[in-house]
Amino acid sequence: MSIDSKQIEYAAKIIKSGGLVAFPTETVYGLGADALNPVAVAKIFAEKERPTFDPLIIHVGSITDIDRYTLPQNEYPYLLAKVFWPGPLTMVLNKKTMIPDIVTSGLPTVGIRMPDNEIALSLIRTAERPIAAPSANKFGRISPTTANHVRKQLPDLPCILDGGHTQIGIESTVVTFNDDGFIILRQGFITESDLLKIVPKSQKGVQKSHRLESPGMLNSHYSPRKPLFILGEQMPEINKTKAALISFTGKNSEGYKFVESLSQNQDLKEASVNLFRIMHQFEDADIEYIVAEPVPLEGIGIAIMDKLHKAAYQYQNKK
Ligand code: TXA
Ligand code: MG
Repeated sequence: MSIDSKQIEYAAKIIKSGGLVAFPTETVYGLGADALNPVAVAKIFAEKERPTFDPLIIHVGSITDIDRYTLPQNEYPYLLAKVFWPGPLTMVLNKKTMIPDIVTSGLPTVGIRMPDNEIALSLIRTAERPIAAPSANKFGRISPTTANHVRKQLPDLPCILDGGHTQIGIESTVVTFNDDGFIILRQGFITESDLLKIVPKSQKGVQKSHRLESPGMLNSHYSPRKPLFILGEQMPEINKTKAALISFTGKNSEGYKFVESLSQNQDLKEASVNLFRIMHQFEDADIEYIVAEPVPLEGIGIAIMDKLHKAAYQYQNKK
């Protein structure tokens, strides 16, 4: 979907004057503010009802912005940016002091990525500053993959740039680095094996500070407002006529009131595109439960299962 330059200019003006704009990226819609303006960034936390201990990603318009906003480390971030930017890879690097503490929840590091979406890139370039943006949903709820999903959760937002359905559908992979390689902080569209082709994996593992402070790793997240269970895992007896199935294999679908397929061809990329869209659809449907078939734990399937487990966590682990 195209957007004319007038809309981009209008949105950029809002960003420059300290307001909020929702915009599409290739992964999910973001809720953006001027990353260099702490008062503007505070509005993101308020609008999302997001705890301020959960740091934001800054979105930039070029690879050279790594040098502009972060301190030199080793060559790994550049090697990965050359291959995966613009694209769904966020790198957590030591920040320069110009990045306000509220963006990073007081951490010395900042998450930075260059999105692969023309509307997002035009907005960043027209606003002439990095844009801090989390996914444009209320904290803990399902991430938006359409402008309507944003409207549903943030109805009072005055500016939502509508870029149609996002092409990838799940969030970026978040990585950080040790001197011996990368560490994945959040699973996403770019997989460990994609990264391993370019840079080694750190053998030292996640430092404690990263583990505690990357709430993308919180157990519960992406929750629909209806109980979600994963087939084959701990779940109560449910009445299938009051349930909807997120199907993957095409089997196991008898008896459900609604069935939606993640991918008819069992293609994991297609499944990632459809996951949040189907979760939004079932959250609003006239049913009581959502049941999801597991997908294979390989490639992007790892990130998809991670999202499903987080969506199911508060329901499956109820005593
Ligand atoms: O695809 C995406 O990444 C989307 C689009 C809008 O770009 N954004 C997104 O943002 O998913 P958000 O805020 O929902 O998730 C950002 C993740 C969180 O898990 C956060 O904890 C982690 O990145 N993160 C950000 N800065 C960090 C830092 N300095 N250290 C550790 N983790 C960080
Ligand atoms: Mg989010």
